[in-house]
Amino acid sequence: MHVLSVSSLKGGVGKTTVALGLASAAFSQGLRTLVVDLDPQCDATTGLGAIGVFGETVADVLQNPRHSIVHRSIVSSTWTKLHPGTIDVMVGSPQTQAQDSPSPTIQEIWRLEVALAKVEREYDLVIIDTPPSINGLTRTAWVASDRVLIVSEPSLFSVVAADRTTHALDELRKGLTPRLETLGILINRFRPQSTEGDFRVNELREKYGNRILPQVVEERTVLQQAQGAGRPIHGWPGESAVEISQVFDRILEFVQQSLGQKSPSRIGKNNRKVMRLNRVLRGQTLDEVLKVEASEDAQTSVEGILGLGEDQN
Ligand SMILES: Nc1ncnc2c1ncn2[C@@H]1O[C@H](COP(=O)(O)OP(=O)(O)OP(=O)(O)O)[C@@H](O)[C@H]1O
Ligand SMILES: [Mg+2]
Repeated sequence: MHVLSVSSLKGGVGKTTVALGLASAAFSQGLRTLVVDLDPQCDATTGLGAIGVFGETVADVLQNPRHSIVHRSIVSSTWTKLHPGTIDVMVGSPQTQAQDSPSPTIQEIWRLEVALAKVEREYDLVIIDTPPSINGLTRTAWVASDRVLIVSEPSLFSVVAADRTTHALDELRKGLTPRLETLGILINRFRPQSTEGDFRVNELREKYGNRILPQVVEERTVLQQAQGAGRPIHGWPGESAVEISQVFDRILEFVQQSLGQKSPSRIGKNNRKVMRLNRVLRGQTLDEVLKVEASEDAQTSVEGILGLGEDQN
């Protein structure tokens, strides 16, 4: 099982659209796919056609990542009416808003990782849709992830913000979870006819080089239509939908190439180590831990405590 987070610093740039586009590509390829909806707005849950009253949600999982709660928070998407396969969603909740602390504790930061370890054998790919900030929820997602895709509009402002996100990510990787890597910045809502758009993308490529993904997602109304209807873009009629579906296929291919063949095991599986870490660092915030990590004379490396440097197999 591989885990991919889709993030951005700014709201409304297309995280959910990209997360659902990739989920659609994965589902059409027959990958057993789970979407985790960490955004209190729950747009991904809606886009997957999971509307209704749910018993348990991701908010409960973040309180207590127990096996039974994790399983009850996951429902099947109505996308499976189109063709057989596995496309599930860990249901989002407005209650996660209260869990989006700017200074999460080290215990809180591991909870999604521990939860996903419980379903490790059930999915090939997990896609996490995150809220538009790098507070607790997003960092909880990153700690549980192998890769992070950062979505940006084709403007310099947005890419500067996106790049700031990659710095926060680097910090987290160094301090806590070496498995985490950024895939790069994906430009969304690109308008091919606008010369300004072209200029911007070139300017961005010059400045950020290969940190910008080779694929760009164009502005396409079919994306809004499919999302609004709770349907996957791969099942939407018309030429435009086919074209944009192929773009998401290529982005998924890029993700898979980056992930390689080997599936790293969840650290949550190694519960003893997490417990030990929690005991040592209980009550400390993530920021405190990262600060200690950054200082050169740190006696106990978090990495050392977790044994992350060793091969997990
Ligand atoms: N490439 C695109 N073409 C057309 N519409 C798009 C595209 N990407 C996003 N949109 C539209 O823009 C709006 C915002 O997109 P989306 O909800 O994916 O952003 P978000 O980053 O998840 O927002 P939030 O930060 O609120 O979670 C939606 O109505 C969506 O349909
Ligand atoms: Mg969203």
